[in-house]
Amino acid sequence: MLGDEKGKIWIDGQMVEWADAKIHVLSHTLHYGSGVFEGERAYRGKIFRMQEHHERLHASAKMTGFDLPYTVEEINKAAEEVLKINGLTEAYVRPVAWHGAESLSVASLANSVHVAIAAWKWASYFDTKEGAAPGIRLMWSDYVRPAPNVGPVFAKANGQYISGMLGKNKAMKAGYDDALMLDYRGYVAECTGANIFMVKGGVLITPIADCFLNGITRKTVIEMAHERGIPFMEKHFYPDELAHADEVFIAGTAVEVQPIAEIGTQKYTTGPITRRMIEAYTKRVNGEDRKNA
Ligand SMILES: Cc1ncc(COP(=O)(O)O)c(C=O)c1O
Repeated sequence: MLGDEKGKIWIDGQMVEWADAKIHVLSHTLHYGSGVFEGERAYRGKIFRMQEHHERLHASAKMTGFDLPYTVEEINKAAEEVLKINGLTEAYVRPVAWHGAESLSVASLANSVHVAIAAWKWASYFDTKEGAAPGIRLMWSDYVRPAPNVGPVFAKANGQYISGMLGKNKAMKAGYDDALMLDYRGYVAECTGANIFMVKGGVLITPIADCFLNGITRKTVIEMAHERGIPFMEKHFYPDELAHADEVFIAGTAVEVQPIAEIGTQKYTTGPITRRMIEAYTKRVNGEDRKNA
């Protein structure tokens, strides 16, 4: 169990023993989902796009109605210290910010803001058997990504993960790996923790991120496609267009660039553009090209 790991977790400026990293049951965020978080990966001891992740943590907090009590630079430094003190090089890093237990009014204005950063060993998917697999299987979710006026849809806010959790639970119970969601208009949106891409006639296509997280991995894939002269387009599309795609993959910090083998009853094979993106991403995160900042 994750809670039984050993090591140190940074909480509000202190390194705390793993087992002592606890919060009060009346914390506002436990009741109302008023927190924000990040998901990062370290490769060879360096967090990929760390600055961007911590700028997004700040932006997510702002969109969720609060300010973080630490600067981006302080959070960068803390995350690096967490890796160092725990002797981690290939790791997942999880910063989280939440509201304390001063009040259980729905308003969060009277509540203190806390920040923690934990990290644990997590090898890249590509170093494991899973990475060598021909792709993962997606199930359509019953839930859709809400319209931008339903909540802070561009924030990585923990209160927004309920529909993802329900979709992924159902998918996993049915033997799939993840759930794929439409948006409120019926367009293809994203998976529960990753953005989606398809290739059609040599063109790399991804949905416009106008009601969901514009992932850092998504942006990296787009950048790498541009650098390689791969034709690219952002557009709204419906599931029937996805059904006729030549290749489909998803992109996110945790899953990295992951080929899709099935969406419901539709089957796909891993194609050349997906392979190029996997190779390019692996190089980039490991600092084997010029742009791993
Ligand atoms: C809902 C959702 N979409 C997309 C992503 C991919 O974002 P990133 O590439 O920044 O990890 C994530 C992961 O953070 C996510 O939780």
